[in-house]
Amino acid sequence: MSKRFLSFVVLALGTLLVLAACGSQATPAPAAVTKAPAAVTKAPAAVTKAPAATQAPAAATKAPVLKGDVIRGGVLYDNWIEALGVEAPEGDQPLWKTQTTNTRTGADTWRCKECHGWDYRGVAGAYGKGSHKTGFVGVWQVTGQDANDILATMQGSTNPDHNFSKVMDEQALIDLSLFMSENLVDDTSLVSADKTAIGGNADSGKSVFNENCTECHGPAGLALNFSDETGPEYVGTLSKDNPWEFLHKARFGQPAVADMPSMVDLGLKDQEYVDLLAYVQTLPTESLITEGGVLYDNWMAALGMEAPAGDQPLWKTQTTNTRTGADTWRCKECHGWDYRGAEGAYGKGSHATGFKGVAASASLSEADITAWLNGTKSADHNFSDAFKEPQIKMMAAFIQGGLTDTSAYINADKTVKGGNIDHGKELYNGVCKTCHGADGKSLNFGDEAAPEYVGTIASDNPWEFWHKASVGQPGKAMATGLNLDWKPQDFADLLTYAQTLPTK
Ligand code: HEC
Ligand code: HEC
Ligand code: HEC
Ligand code: HEC
Repeated sequence: MSKRFLSFVVLALGTLLVLAACGSQATPAPAAVTKAPAAVTKAPAAVTKAPAATQAPAAATKAPVLKGDVIRGGVLYDNWIEALGVEAPEGDQPLWKTQTTNTRTGADTWRCKECHGWDYRGVAGAYGKGSHKTGFVGVWQVTGQDANDILATMQGSTNPDHNFSKVMDEQALIDLSLFMSENLVDDTSLVSADKTAIGGNADSGKSVFNENCTECHGPAGLALNFSDETGPEYVGTLSKDNPWEFLHKARFGQPAVADMPSMVDLGLKDQEYVDLLAYVQTLPTESLITEGGVLYDNWMAALGMEAPAGDQPLWKTQTTNTRTGADTWRCKECHGWDYRGAEGAYGKGSHATGFKGVAASASLSEADITAWLNGTKSADHNFSDAFKEPQIKMMAAFIQGGLTDTSAYINADKTVKGGNIDHGKELYNGVCKTCHGADGKSLNFGDEAAPEYVGTIASDNPWEFWHKASVGQPGKAMATGLNLDWKPQDFADLLTYAQTLPTK
């Protein structure tokens, strides 16, 4: 699970509201009705073993037809803690200690998928080996069972240590039970042991992807990086590494991410999933320019590293910028958001250092840029403790191909030349709104006393806004405009609109 995931917890409530609003029609009631008699015989067990269950008395006479949201059930199966926006229960799930092969602890041990697998087959499936192996059974076998029976299992009827009614409400358990009864898919017919899609048609999958996924993930699947720059992860990466996880998330959506569609909700057929998987597995798994761009912004955040001790050694050769510590190690602090150093926006103000920009370095060879980063060109300009070969490649690609000259679009007084506000609004609402909200105030980068929103940055520092809209935010899953194939005019349009959003 990516660490970036956490940033979406704030969106959980919104997601749940949306899901709750559109959930109730999802239950195919007739199937449940015909199967109800089976539940009647089993109901007494539930009464004795789960006295807390509120529907138990009714079940003793006639099992109720459970109503709920199977899509939400699928999302809860993935990660109910994230999806419900609750704290993980203390310690490990009680059944965890009955196995020794999977050494994870805490929140992970409470996820259904951690014990039962992305392919729903537990020890009989992909989690039969590797670091996720627990030896526990899958849930595939409950397909088609009466949801009332499954619900009883979730409430501890077969094993008190499998009682989840202590940690989530009954509706969540009902949604999970309906999901398992009605919406598990037989992954062994979709994915082969070598992880390829069985009988998938990548051409057809391309249409499914373009219709449903490119708006957020980009035409090549590179617009959202789920991990950090130590090992970037895109939809293409995940589809190859873990096709079962990919399929589950494509079918139900991502916990706590508002707006990611569910293909089950949209009524896709099994063949369409295989096609989608086959296509996504052909997508690239690296995006050196944007990866380098977030390193340029803040490589410590992008690599999840502590700042080196003290100031960057070159820092003492200037006196005008009085920052200290981590800030002095950021490329942008010396070379500017506009890449023009002392000749650009950092030519004056508290960020002025007098250092040159990197705009002219776009014509340097990869070897020369490498020499600038590993101390060969200048002993005090050495980042090799943090940048290994992959990061040097990212940085070089960004310097060679990612430095947009914004001077044709942004005036010295921070206004924008020739931006089309209507088109900018379209881009904002299509991409940024998902996370930042229609007014840009869903995420506050400052604090309560001094809030800072996407509108604040757009107005105060249009160069920073442009950079981040192009390559994303270090350490967070954020859309990258360059991987949505946006051209400079698109960024200028977006900026024009973003400058009209509230700044406080
Ligand atoms: C710590 C591991 C663990 C977690 C987490 C876990 N389970 Fe289980 N589950 C088991 C084990 C072990 C069994 C087997 C028998 C038993 O003791 O009940 C089981 C049994 C089941 C069964 C019954 C299977 C059958 O054949 O009748 C269902 C359904 C089920 N779990 C669903 C879930 C769901 C949904 C979640 C998430 C809310 C979940 N489990 C979380 C370990 C786990
Ligand atoms: C409205 C925007 C949006 C759309 C449309 C969208 N996604 Fe997502 N998706 C996201 C966001 C945001 C994340 C979360 C990234 C994170 O948490 O790191 C995500 C995460 C994922 C993940 C899991 C990442 C992980 O490892 O946790 C997969 C797989 C995925 N999406 C596949 C798809 C597929 C396939 C489609 C089309 C069928 C799609 N998405 C459509 C926004 C979207
Ligand atoms: C503390 C300030 C500082 C930081 C931080 C910094 N640089 Fe520099 N950089 C300089 C200075 C000063 C020079 C010019 C050195 C010289 O000419 O001897 C330079 C030169 C360069 C050059 C060569 C420019 C040319 O002359 O062609 C490149 C490329 C470069 N830096 C990239 C980066 C990157 C990428 C980062 C972040 C990993 C970074 N710098 C971080 C101060 C800094
Ligand atoms: C998938 C979610 C997501 C999408 C889509 C997204 N962002 Fe962000 N954005 C974030 C997160 C998370 C942060 C970091 C918030 C924090 O650090 O508190 C962020 C931060 C920012 C910041 C400022 C960060 C700072 O440190 O000052 C800007 C500017 C920004 N986003 C602009 C945009 C623009 C413009 C778009 C549309 C092109 C966009 N974002 C799309 C999630 C997203």
